[in-house]
This record gives sequence, C-alpha cells and structure tokens, in this order.
Amino acid sequence: MMGRATAVSCANIAFIKYWGNRDSRLRLPANGSISMNMAGIETTTTVAFDENLERDELAINGETQRGEAFVRVSRHLDHIRALAGLGARANVASQNSFAMGTGLASSASAFAALTVAGCAAAGLSLSEAALSAIARLGSGSACRSVPGGFAEWCAGKDHDTSYAESIAPPDHWGLVDLIAIVSREHKQVGSTAGHAAADTSPLQKSRVVDAPKRIETCRKALLTRDFDAFAAIVEHDALMMHAVMMTSQPPLLYWSPDTLNVMRHVIDWRERQGLPVCYTIDAGPNVHVITTQERQETLTARLEALVGGENVLAARPGGPTRLIDAEIRH
Ligand code: DP6
Repeated sequence: MMGRATAVSCANIAFIKYWGNRDSRLRLPANGSISMNMAGIETTTTVAFDENLERDELAINGETQRGEAFVRVSRHLDHIRALAGLGARANVASQNSFAMGTGLASSASAFAALTVAGCAAAGLSLSEAALSAIARLGSGSACRSVPGGFAEWCAGKDHDTSYAESIAPPDHWGLVDLIAIVSREHKQVGSTAGHAAADTSPLQKSRVVDAPKRIETCRKALLTRDFDAFAAIVEHDALMMHAVMMTSQPPLLYWSPDTLNVMRHVIDWRERQGLPVCYTIDAGPNVHVITTQERQETLTARLEALVGGENVLAARPGGPTRLIDAEIRH
C-alpha cells in the first residue's frame, strides 16, 4: 500500500486554558478548554507512507529533523499505523505559514495536520471526533484545531470521550487576535514539561475545580457575543493559569516586563477608553490581544506603537483542518 495525503490546519488560541493532565500518556486534560482557530497561522503537512522506507522521515520548513520533534512525530505515526494495521514507514513534510521563532505555538496546527493527513494516507476514514481524539495524543491543544471556528474540548473520561467539537462557526463573531510578539526567543520550558509540573502548585486544584464554571461563562459569552463578559472570563482564566505556573516547582515565570506593559495598556483601553479589547497569554511572553474586527485597525496601530510594526500579527477565526489532497494506491 502506498498512500499520500496533505492537510492544512490552523493554530488556535485558548480562551479557557488547558493546563495539566489527569493522564499524561493519553493527554487526558485536568479540565476542559475553549479556543478559536487562527486563520492564516497554519501548518501544511504531507504524509506519504512508503513500504520501501526503512524509517520515518521528517522535514519542517525544508529542514530534516532528527531530534525530539522527529521522535514525537514518529510516535504519533505509530498510533495511526496501529489503527490502520499498517507497517509502512512514512515521509512527512511540514510547512508553517508563520516564521519559526516567533514564539507562536505550532504543536496544535502541526499535530492536527499530521493526524488528518496521516489518517487519510493510511486509508482510514474517521469521524471528526475520532480525528480530534487522535490529534490530542500528539499535542493536547491539537484536538481543538481539528474542528472549525470556536471549539470546546470536553475533558472526557478516556481516549474516545476526550475530543473537541465546534461550538460556533468562524463567522459567528467577528473577533480578531492581534498577537503582540514581545520576544522571539525559543521558550525555555515547553508546555509538555509545564503540564507535568502543574500539580506541584497548591493552586492547581482550585483552578481545576472551578473550571466547569469558567467554561460555562465563556461559552455563554461567546454564543451571545457579550464582549464584556467574554473579556472578564478570558483574562481571569489566563491569570489563573499563570498563577499556577508561577507557583509550580520549579516556578514558571513566562512574563517579561513588555508582557506586563501590553497587559496594562489593554486594561486601560478597555476600562478607561471603552474599547472592546482583552488579553490572554499562553506558555510564553507574547500577548494575544483579542478585539473586534471593527477595532482591528485602531488597536493594531496602538500595539505597533508599543512593540514595533513588525511584531504584530493578526488572525481572524479560522476553519477546520482540511484535507487538500489524497491518493491511495493498493
Ligand atoms: C498554555 O497542547 O502545547 O497553550 O499536549 O504537551 O503538546 P502538549 O501541550 P500543549 O499545551 C497548551 C497549553 C496552553 C493553553 C492552551 O492552549 O489551552
């Protein structure tokens, strides 16, 4: 069997964060999460199974990978091979639309595209939920990049019940994520190690217990397009996650002075100037500034004045991971 397929996937930004696993092998999260796909911040991946290959091969942006990234991808292909009853190794070629080293997390779009392309190339025809669950095994947040628009990942009880579903299509709400890049350094502690440390913080338990309430509040604010309610819960949830990070052993301090400077401006623009704007921050110093598309221009100009013109990226709500090409020969 020779199968080849290509898929394109958007990265996503979480409004209610995933932080900590109940089962780290299966990446069953401690709590559910909600996110928006980011149009244009994409990974395109081609998987080609080939019985003549002796081992898997991986290239990212044209560069052959042999280290950690390769091992993680090859393990992910093992899940797909096991499901399809396939022995063949694969050649994987992946391209990111965004420059590497922008500090943007690419594991979500990477594992969502790898899953959808890999399963198609292996001749598997699976539901969106099943693809989302498989993507989760590679990187937790990747399960939310499989469905389109705004997605909710239900923590679930086991592999089959832990996947993400779309709660609203991309055109439901004209939001935009303006990413203020305050550092282009590669982060020192990656998410996988961070998740493993979450339980060392005494605050993680309360963060997790309270998560269903935050999910409800965020989902409702999203579905009713209530920006004030949305802003309050998104900022609160990001601060809860960073409080856990800062109080873990060892402590994870992702913010830089520039991070805090952008946060303070965002609060001022909203609370004193009445603009619809809020911030969220992942496992790094960059600030995701969420606003409405009507205010995109105004806020882009203000952010550019703070962090420099070349350091602001914009992403509107994106679609699901899509297969753009597939060919199976028996
Ligand atoms: C802070 O999905 O990158 O961005 O499962 O180990 O790959 P792994 O972790 P990952 O963690 C994402 C953490 C976060 C919050 C979020 O996206 O929900």
